[in-house]
Parts: sequence; C-alpha cells; structure tokens
Amino acid sequence: MTVAKLATILGLSAVMIISAGCKPKVETKPAPTAPPLPTSSFGKTADGKDAVLYVLKNKNGMEAAITNFGAALVSLKAPDRQGKLADIVLGYDQASGYENGKAYFGGTIGRYGNRIGKGKFALNGTTYTLATNNGANHLHGGKRGFDKVLWEAKDASGAGGQALQLTYTSKDGEEGYPGNLNVQVTYTLTDNNELKIDYSATTDKDTVVNLTNHSYFNLTGDPKNDILSHELLVKASRFTPVDSGLIPTGELKPVKGTPFDFTTSTAIGARIKQTNEQLKLGKGYDHNFVLDRPEGAGLVKVAEVYEKTTGRVLEVQTTEPGIQFYSGNFLDGTEKGKGGQAYAHRTGFCLETQHFPDSPNKPEFPSTTLKPGQQYKTTTVYKFSAR
Ligand code: GLA
Repeated sequence: MTVAKLATILGLSAVMIISAGCKPKVETKPAPTAPPLPTSSFGKTADGKDAVLYVLKNKNGMEAAITNFGAALVSLKAPDRQGKLADIVLGYDQASGYENGKAYFGGTIGRYGNRIGKGKFALNGTTYTLATNNGANHLHGGKRGFDKVLWEAKDASGAGGQALQLTYTSKDGEEGYPGNLNVQVTYTLTDNNELKIDYSATTDKDTVVNLTNHSYFNLTGDPKNDILSHELLVKASRFTPVDSGLIPTGELKPVKGTPFDFTTSTAIGARIKQTNEQLKLGKGYDHNFVLDRPEGAGLVKVAEVYEKTTGRVLEVQTTEPGIQFYSGNFLDGTEKGKGGQAYAHRTGFCLETQHFPDSPNKPEFPSTTLKPGQQYKTTTVYKFSAR
C-alpha cells in the first residue's frame, strides 16, 4: 500500500516529497471536508479555449451543473412530489451552444442586464455609447456580454454547501462601459434545496452595473411542454410599462385590474392573450415588476411558481428591487438545446432579478451607479420544493 493510499484511508491528505537519497516524507494536513467538485470537458470556445462543466450536489440528490463559459447554469435537477429528479432549466450540451445562442439560456448577464435606451447614458457629464444589439437599444451587456466570455472558476464549497466561484475582469471600455470591473459570481447549492447566487463587483472608475441570471425554467422537467399552466405569484403591486422598444416609459403603473396582477397566484397563460397594450408590446410578458419590499429588507421572498402536474415549487428570494418576468415569447423552435431538443414558443420562463431597465437614463429609478471604493453586492436564491 502506498503512503498516499494509507493516508487517504486514515482521512489525511498526503503530500509526498521524494528527493534523491531521502526517505519519502509525508506532510499531513486536515482532510478537506468535501471531495473536490467533479468536472468534465464542456467543449471549446471558437478561439480554441477549453470550457469546463462543474457539478454541485446536495444531500438530497439535487444537482446544479455550471460552466465557466458565461458563468451559465446548464442544468438543475430538482425533485417532484414523488422525489423524482428532472432537469428543470433550458440550455445546451456544449459551450459552443452558449457562444452562438441568442436566448441567453442560464447565463450570467452583465455588465448591465436588460436594456439601456439607444445604448447611451451619461455619467459625471460624459456620455458613453454602447452597442445597440436590440433594435435601437442596448441589451444584456452588448455584443459580447458576460454570458459570452470565459470566467475563472474555483471550488468554493464550505459549510453552506457545495459552491463554485466564478471571476471575470471586464476591461475599461469593454462594450463601451467605463472602468475596469472585477466581478464575482458564486453559486451555492444548499441542503435546503436552494441555489443561491451571490454577485459582487468593484470598479476603478464610476460605472453602471446590473447583474442577473437568465435561467429559463420549465418545472414540468420536460421542455416539450409549454409553461402556460405554471402558476405564478409575484409580490409586486406595480410594474414598469414599456415603449415599443421595451424601454420603460418611467411610469410605475399599478398592476391592479390588469393582466400584470400576479399578487395572487395565477396561471401564466390565464390572461396572456388578452387585448392589452403592454402584452402586445412585450409579445406576452417581458416586463420589469417593481417588488413590494419592506423598507430596509435584505433577502426576501418575492415570487413563487407552482407546477401542478409534478408539484414542483420554485421560490425566488432576492435583495434586488425588481424582477423581469419573461414568458419565453421569442422562443420559436429555432434554438436547439440539450439532447437536440428544439425549444418551442413559451417552453421556458425567466424571473430575472435586477435593477430596473434603463436606470442609467432614469434618475428616479434606484441607482445602478458603482463608484471606486464601493462594493456591488446582491443575492438571489432559487429555492425548490414540491407539494
Ligand atoms: C430578456 C429580454 C427579452 C429577451 C430575452 C432573451 O428577458 O427582456 O426581451 O431579449 O431576454 O431572448
């Protein structure tokens, strides 16, 4: 038996230092509490770099697979009411899918999630011009947002659960934004069946930041089904109506009496076909909801989705003031995902926790400015159960 094997059996990790003429010397240190995260190849990027897939697990058998390409959540296996696990997010089998895809499946979105009107904003008297990659407007960080770059990944597992920390430095001027921005996103899978996402960032120049995750959920576990009978609750008594380019008009409109009232749990499809100016502009739901947050509240529950055939429940908690509810209106079967599945119209929904769209041009909205010396810090939790 080798010393290393013996050390493993004894629960020690061994570093063998063998030098000529010396006996093998064993240095011991306490065994890590958990084995390292399993990884596998996730293909190559267009410029030949290796992408990796990491798998987090918890004691209930839940699994979250995350790639360092775009810091994207690739799959998430959650139990139904019988305890049967199924993958409940849309995505691709390889990094190339994420690199070429246009739907932002599971990706980390930045530097600014959602839209900035005309791709322009002013900060301290300087006007910055960003890419206009969504009609006349800027969307989800531009042509090559944070979902289209390779991140550094490291195992950050600890007492809270298995975790993966991803780091990216966005250079001053990247996609038109000012300031070198250091970004960290940590995914933790807890034993309470929560996928917790912690975002943090610092800058060396005044800039704007709005990070989110763009997972598309289908709680049936079968993306051939549409999501229209999923029942949604959003704790928001107002939303931000948009213009024809999906830029908020600036109004905070009460949801009461409109198809945007999800303050009591309602099927996503119940009112989606109603004649309504905002539903028409969004081609369905593609709107920011103004969350009813108690003053000074930190991480609070803001939304819940229930799928009655499987019993799966998704609860969303966040520190953010808004959430973009998007009903998968642009999915049209042309995006082929995992296992070659073509994702048809409305077979996934997103609940993107965020600051409001176009905040850099709307001084009345909560600010998205980050200054040197400040730390950007937000947390969102997707919690799963079944009933
Ligand atoms: C966001 C936007 C949508 C759409 C999707 C991706 O949710 O608000 O309009 O661009 O991303 O297709």
